[in-house]
Amino acid sequence: MLQTEKHTVKMSPHPLEPLSESEIMKAVSIIRKEKNFGDEIRFEQAGLKEPSKEEVLNFETGDPINRRSFMVILNRETNQTFEAVVSITDEKVISYEKIAEGQQASFIMEEYTELEETVKNNPEFQKAAAKRGVTDMDLVMVDPWSAGYFGIEEDEGRRLGRALCFVRRYEGDNAYGQPLTGLIPVVDLNTQEVIRIEDSGVRPVYDTNENYVPEEGDFETRKDLKRLDITMPDGPSFEVDGHSVEWQKWQFRIGYTAREGLVLHTVNYDDDGKVRPVLYRAALSEMIVPYGYPDHAHNWQNAFDAGEYGLGQLANSLVLGCDCKGEIEYFDAVMVDADGEPMTIPNAVCLHEEDYGVAWKHTDWRTGEMEVRRSRRLVISFFTTVANYDYGFYWYLYTDGTIEHEVKATGMLNVSALQEGEDTKYGTEVAPGIMAPIHQHFFNYRIDTQIDGVENSVVEYNTVASEINDDNPNKNAFYAEETIFETEMEARRNINLETARRWKVINENSKNLMGQPVGYILEPGENVSPFAHDQSSIMQRAPFLKKHVHFTQYDPAEMFAPGMYPNQKQGGGMDELSKYAEKDRSIRNEDVVLWYNMGLHHYTKPEDWPVMPTIYIGFYLKPFGFFDRNAALDLPRPSIKEQRRN
Ligand code: CO
Repeated sequence: MLQTEKHTVKMSPHPLEPLSESEIMKAVSIIRKEKNFGDEIRFEQAGLKEPSKEEVLNFETGDPINRRSFMVILNRETNQTFEAVVSITDEKVISYEKIAEGQQASFIMEEYTELEETVKNNPEFQKAAAKRGVTDMDLVMVDPWSAGYFGIEEDEGRRLGRALCFVRRYEGDNAYGQPLTGLIPVVDLNTQEVIRIEDSGVRPVYDTNENYVPEEGDFETRKDLKRLDITMPDGPSFEVDGHSVEWQKWQFRIGYTAREGLVLHTVNYDDDGKVRPVLYRAALSEMIVPYGYPDHAHNWQNAFDAGEYGLGQLANSLVLGCDCKGEIEYFDAVMVDADGEPMTIPNAVCLHEEDYGVAWKHTDWRTGEMEVRRSRRLVISFFTTVANYDYGFYWYLYTDGTIEHEVKATGMLNVSALQEGEDTKYGTEVAPGIMAPIHQHFFNYRIDTQIDGVENSVVEYNTVASEINDDNPNKNAFYAEETIFETEMEARRNINLETARRWKVINENSKNLMGQPVGYILEPGENVSPFAHDQSSIMQRAPFLKKHVHFTQYDPAEMFAPGMYPNQKQGGGMDELSKYAEKDRSIRNEDVVLWYNMGLHHYTKPEDWPVMPTIYIGFYLKPFGFFDRNAALDLPRPSIKEQRRN
């Protein structure tokens, strides 16, 4: 395995540089002292309070920087949650406010393990498990799930977790193969008491081998794969300064939050010495998984993986040669634990280059002269494990100005034990007696565009067939109709295959060689719409799921599609993306934010079990008149290798 040497750490101060461990320690100690915190206080998050856009865009090296931390703090005795901003530079608390009633901050890391212990130690739970033939609590596995909102009186005013339970046949077994379906303990996370055990009846616990590692499984590892290594003898082509990255003509900064994970800041393109902004900020705003199975075991499941679980805090430490190959630069993610101590995930973000086949090619068929260029992409990624599922989030920057985002979904299906003779129309039997319900994964991205400047507009393309008349003699003409949006309500739109609908963010004040406004176009990949009814809890909480795109006028308070605190939120309030759009602000020549909602429709299948082959889904942001011509024209000719002969 190749080992890369860590670059010498050099770091120029910048207002977007993430907080270091020592800055987090300082921020926590400032607020602890000023607010006289005791043991009742838990920290849900403490990260960089991002400076204002003006501050970032006007920043010049050497300018003074006010380092601040944004915190979410839980008082577990009063079940009150507070937002705070602390100035590390001025050593004082700038603001400290209680959040609205009926909302909860996301799970705190410690609560995941506490909930499991609480459930296993509960006599009522032990009795219910015994009814299923399970008596050894050491073999029981309890996955915490968000409680959602279903108007249950007993749940009001509590901070809750619901649990899915599984059992291993022996230590080291894959517990997901033996679900204790229908047994759902509900736990108060503040007091760590089981407030009730929901039990919809005993189902069989199947005794089959559902393992995915060769040591435990019933398969042999294949032995005919030869080595495949990536070697870059001259090192990588990128340069890193703190969290600032330069690669080819791209420049950007890497950010990270406990909620969103990886954030791309200030993505710029150096176009012959002119630095042209493309994106101000891009990150996942939420990911929601609605399940289609109406059974008690699953009908409450609609996980909001960012706002309820904090998918950034659940990130993996990546391993060279396994998660990423080649010349890698890793970035640690620094967050906070419940006690306010820094919590660092080493190697959370991976940066590397990949060969990506042919960038462009042409052969003169008369002379046989061939010109080809290799495409290369810069990969910025992280992987996170949210209980049974694993998600990789990948941003790719290409040598032709293209930006791509891709999700890699893998891990373990959420499964249910079938009852004898049960209808499986709500899912697929993936192993004898094991059913995986049909479900969807919606990924919402907040992409603050900045195409050649802050003031952008949005154009929709629809292709129409020309009418049959004298101008269309062969009755086959078609053309693109362009509509420019004036306000937010016009710009709540869905994909339309019949018109090949696309959306382009343009800058009407910046023109290319042909006099066209410069732009970047959103090219959606696979997508789908939700199937839950409007009256359902999930659609009340996330009505934005009904539209594939929203475009809003920039407001720094509007960061997350389901609002700031979706955990246990009833929905229907004003803090939600579709409500932001109802403000109907101008998006013509304004600071525009693009929200793309991407749906992965998961028809579960036997091949997804006992571990899912990676599902890929993504979208592109492609330069569309941003450049005057193919931006990859100047790529060098590849060196021609001698062909290997046998
Ligand atoms: Co799935």
